[in-house]
Amino acid sequence: MNQHVLVTGGAGYIGSHTVVALVEKGYTPVIVDDFRNATEIVLNGLSEILGFQPIVHRVDVCKLEEMREIFQAYSFHGIIHFAAHKAVGESVEKPLKYYQNNLIGLINMLSLMEEFKVKNLVFSSSCTVYGEPKEKKEVDEETPKSLPESPYGFTKWIGEQIIQDFFKSSPEFCLMNLRYFNPVGAHPSAKIGEFPLGKPSNLLPFITQTAIGKQDCLTVFGNDYPTRDGSCVRDYIHVMDLAEAHVQAIQFLSNQTQGCLEAVNVGTGKGTSVLELINVFEKETNQSLNYQIGPRRAGDVVEIYANASKSFQLLQWTTKRSIEDAVRDAWNWELNLNQLK
Ligand code: UD1
Repeated sequence: MNQHVLVTGGAGYIGSHTVVALVEKGYTPVIVDDFRNATEIVLNGLSEILGFQPIVHRVDVCKLEEMREIFQAYSFHGIIHFAAHKAVGESVEKPLKYYQNNLIGLINMLSLMEEFKVKNLVFSSSCTVYGEPKEKKEVDEETPKSLPESPYGFTKWIGEQIIQDFFKSSPEFCLMNLRYFNPVGAHPSAKIGEFPLGKPSNLLPFITQTAIGKQDCLTVFGNDYPTRDGSCVRDYIHVMDLAEAHVQAIQFLSNQTQGCLEAVNVGTGKGTSVLELINVFEKETNQSLNYQIGPRRAGDVVEIYANASKSFQLLQWTTKRSIEDAVRDAWNWELNLNQLK
């Protein structure tokens, strides 16, 4: 079997881990990344884990002509479309950058799928499409979507809508929106992991950077929320579990004899508060973290976690790694990164 799977954004955080998971299942990933938010360090680490250099094309997914040449060169079995901007705060400052990149990239993928008759697409969506859950904090895929708080969130929301409209007009395609909760951790080898350019806005990279001394102090954004300890609750999922969900998604889509469109949550089903995550970090790494309680962050959801039954039923996928594993792997990656730079 030499089934090529296009992985846009394959040098990025979730993309690089998915490349590993694809190779483990016998697929040949073809990475397309323009490296605007990725680094050679991850590419080198990827080669070390795989034992060979993966196929990489340095192309911007928004450049349709260049992408067409790549579609001409391979007969893709499927596409996993990660390439997108993802910083919520930045998207408020620079909305056009987000709409331009995230939506044009997706539209190009769908146009090329149609042109080259590539049947299967997995789209990186987000639990952000649910907004703030009204009563139940555990959300399943039937939970009504609500309008997001940020342009970033809207790009995922509109992205799903574009895919839905595309499917209505072309029902022969097999399409899946994977709605990620909060990806954390790194490959257990510590050779690849999250590589925030500039100051991290996500929680676990901020924790590891504070512990290693790159940041002075972590601010917990609010401890007066109506949650069990006052801090916000999220569903933190190990990035290798998330990566494996993509491979299961590709396999599911390949097995379909008719077109389909599915949305699937990818989370653990368990909520963890900010203070609980800090506690896990302190226990796992045997050190105390310098943190302070600060004001709430604008636009934060109070509490959300996945109902993960559909991912199990449809994809036969379930999480294998704990939050302790994720925290340990993230810390080992931070330690390794400190030596590499
Ligand atoms: C959000 C989106 C997610 C999106 C991601 C992209 C929701 C529910 N989630 O994640 O879909 O993919 O952005 O980046 O909308 N925190 C601190 N101090 C910090 C950093 C974070 O206390 O320095 C807290 C936040 O207030 C939040 C939690 O940690 O409660 C997680 O924050 P973060 O890692 O930024 O992820 P989300 O905002 O949940």
